[in-house]
Amino acid sequence: MIHLRLCFIGFGHAGQALARLLLNQKESLARRHRCRFSVTAVATRSRGGLVDADGIDLERVLENIRSRNRFSTQDNSLSSLTPTEMIRTVPADVVVEMTPLNISTGEPALTHIQTALSAGRHVITLNKGPIARAYRKLRDLAESSGKRLLFEGTVMDGFPVFNLVRETLPGCRILGFRGVLNSTTNFILCEMEQGKSFSEALAEARRMGIAEADPDQDLDGWDAAAKTAALINVLMDSSTTPEKVDREGIRRLDTEDLEKAGREGKTVKLVCEARRTDDGIQARVAPVPLVLSDPLARTEGASSTLTLFTDLMGPVTLTEENPGISQTAYAVLSDLLTLVRHIY
Ligand SMILES: NC(=O)c1ccc[n+]([C@@H]2O[C@H](COP(=O)([O-])OP(=O)(O)OC[C@H]3O[C@@H](n4cnc5c(N)ncnc54)[C@H](OP(=O)(O)O)[C@@H]3O)[C@@H](O)[C@H]2O)c1
Repeated sequence: MIHLRLCFIGFGHAGQALARLLLNQKESLARRHRCRFSVTAVATRSRGGLVDADGIDLERVLENIRSRNRFSTQDNSLSSLTPTEMIRTVPADVVVEMTPLNISTGEPALTHIQTALSAGRHVITLNKGPIARAYRKLRDLAESSGKRLLFEGTVMDGFPVFNLVRETLPGCRILGFRGVLNSTTNFILCEMEQGKSFSEALAEARRMGIAEADPDQDLDGWDAAAKTAALINVLMDSSTTPEKVDREGIRRLDTEDLEKAGREGKTVKLVCEARRTDDGIQARVAPVPLVLSDPLARTEGASSTLTLFTDLMGPVTLTEENPGISQTAYAVLSDLLTLVRHIY
């Protein structure tokens, strides 16, 4: 039986969903994959931290966290270590980085990942900031440390984008891609097509928990640009940043623009695209009117679609239907099982 000890950095929506998934899947993981996972450390920004080298009682922590905002003595394993101290000193095989996204710096995740790899831990991250800003540097650090850096959940949640190319399209070169990858803007555009104004559609996205309290990064195309940069860095072996992606968000669109597109038999989507040219990789994020037969045009609500253009397989299109937080947690589980399969 393989036993991996995990250090969680961040215990918000995604961290708690992952804890629930690991508890729910415990028996199946042992039976089908001959592995088990224990969590030896949990770091947060304001709730405090937990450390227990024998494994934190996640059931109890999840139960307690429902009624309080901070960890307490009832959780048994309170710790005053900072996240970087935990990463360096707590016995753990894998650091799971789940702190909030900062597109302009990649921090604090970037520092957490560098610290973890340098300390000889494998890293799994849900945070696209470091992959969009510093992938090559992190990949090289992982290689020189003999550790793995996995990040399936950074684009399209648990849907296997990076795994697809790495595991199932061997020998294919990615020539470019087109995708609808930001759920908030797609949901808003779909609502506006039904006649809602921009502000009504945004209010509905907030009510449904799809839009963040501060949705600027989505509306101005920054989140889409970060995903575009991450895909370019990893799948096209390049080195770019979100700022280098030509970017236009959806704020200038009104219902009239969408009605006009509808009269022409088109639908407007915020499209992320990149392609190899003689002058290097060209990348942009912009609202584009698409004919209805375009595979991206059928992306409804909070769903995502990505077409990869390959040299040997032609276009390959993937669609993820209305993902939730369970799919995000699954992304981490799939990376954990990748580690189990390939390393241990
Ligand atoms: N939610 C999704 O559907 C989804 C999908 C794909 C990817 N992701 C990515 O997953 C990551 C986590 O998302 P989330 O929804 O779980 O966010 P969240 O609910 O805001 O949780 C973030 C967690 O990180 C902790 N944190 C913040 N700054 C920290 C620091 N400097 N050191 C240690 N911990 C820190 C927070 O502490 P407190 O608890 O004290 O606030 C919280 O526990 C983000 O990068 C996000 O982009 C999320």
